[in-house]
Amino acid sequence: LAYDAGEHEHFMAKEIHEQPEVVERALRGRLDVRFSTAHLGGLNLDPREARAIRRVKIIGCGSAYYSGQLGAQLIEELARIPADAEPASEFRYRNPVVEADTLYVAVSQSGETYDTLAAVQELRRKGGRVLGLVNVVGSAIARECDGGIYLHAGPEVSVTSTKTFTATGVAFALLALYLGRTRDLSPSDGARIVRGLKAMPMQIAEILRQEDRIAELARGLAGHQGAFFIGRVRGFPIAREGAQKLKEVSYLHAEAYPASELKHGPLALISPDLPTVAIVPDDELRDKNLTTLGEINARKGRVIAIAHSELSADAILVPKNERELDPILMSIPLQLLAYHAALALGHDIDKPRNLAKSVTVE
Ligand code: G6P
Repeated sequence: LAYDAGEHEHFMAKEIHEQPEVVERALRGRLDVRFSTAHLGGLNLDPREARAIRRVKIIGCGSAYYSGQLGAQLIEELARIPADAEPASEFRYRNPVVEADTLYVAVSQSGETYDTLAAVQELRRKGGRVLGLVNVVGSAIARECDGGIYLHAGPEVSVTSTKTFTATGVAFALLALYLGRTRDLSPSDGARIVRGLKAMPMQIAEILRQEDRIAELARGLAGHQGAFFIGRVRGFPIAREGAQKLKEVSYLHAEAYPASELKHGPLALISPDLPTVAIVPDDELRDKNLTTLGEINARKGRVIAIAHSELSADAILVPKNERELDPILMSIPLQLLAYHAALALGHDIDKPRNLAKSVTVE
């Protein structure tokens, strides 16, 4: 192997710990402090074209799809453009309606995932404008797109993605900021996001310093059959990615649910045997989340909360950023939870069974 994990036992650990620099690189030269916007030279989308966009549709597979859900949320909030994400593997098979005023965004770490590439080719065949959020420079998907944002996360060796999920979140925040500032996002709100992005590397370093405590909670999790991951709105894509991480490397069953939907079915499964990992930011939905945690407590379910302030449950505290950017930071403790659960179970962390880093076949 041309790369080595250095002081770390696994590439997954190395890549988790690289994230402060990864975010710095993803931001380098892209923040415009004076006009509170983003410089994204590779987009090939001038402000007039940006204003003409009526919808944003994001496609990707696996973690790239979940980061797309996070991206859709950021774009709707900051730019007020209707946005959603769909697995590229589904999109390409359903003869999608392609519209001229929709902006399509394909997300892929490797830039080689066949399902995503085929979806991009189908979009281009139908005249769709496609941007790529890709890590590998010059990869097939990057070459096929009309423009895009390179993640600059550096090579990701571990099969399960960590730093590229974070870098994709940052790239979406930059895209949402740029689109927002061609529309109704005020200079002061733009400045708030610029400040928030700049604070992120230091805040990630602060989260990584809590690794010992997170590892202890992960060992507790590893003793169970599985876990629920819940979050509301901004927190839901993070819950999905957290469940994906745990499944991929620890082989524990993990199911992500919108916290609001728990009472509509899955609450029946809550018991002391099934822990819940909950995303509980200090935002306008905190009280709703606390009500859900109360329902879990009443059924004696154990909760690990990723939060900004102390809760009655076991909490992993994360530094507060802007509400729109908090989800990106909240996914980092979930990476460490999955890593340490897999470590406790003795799995082949960098090469989980049945998975490939990029799936280049149908
Ligand atoms: C594979 C990996 C996933 C990854 C997905 C998308 O299925 O196992 O971890 O998220 O591919 O990869 P990409 O390179 O397109 O981001």
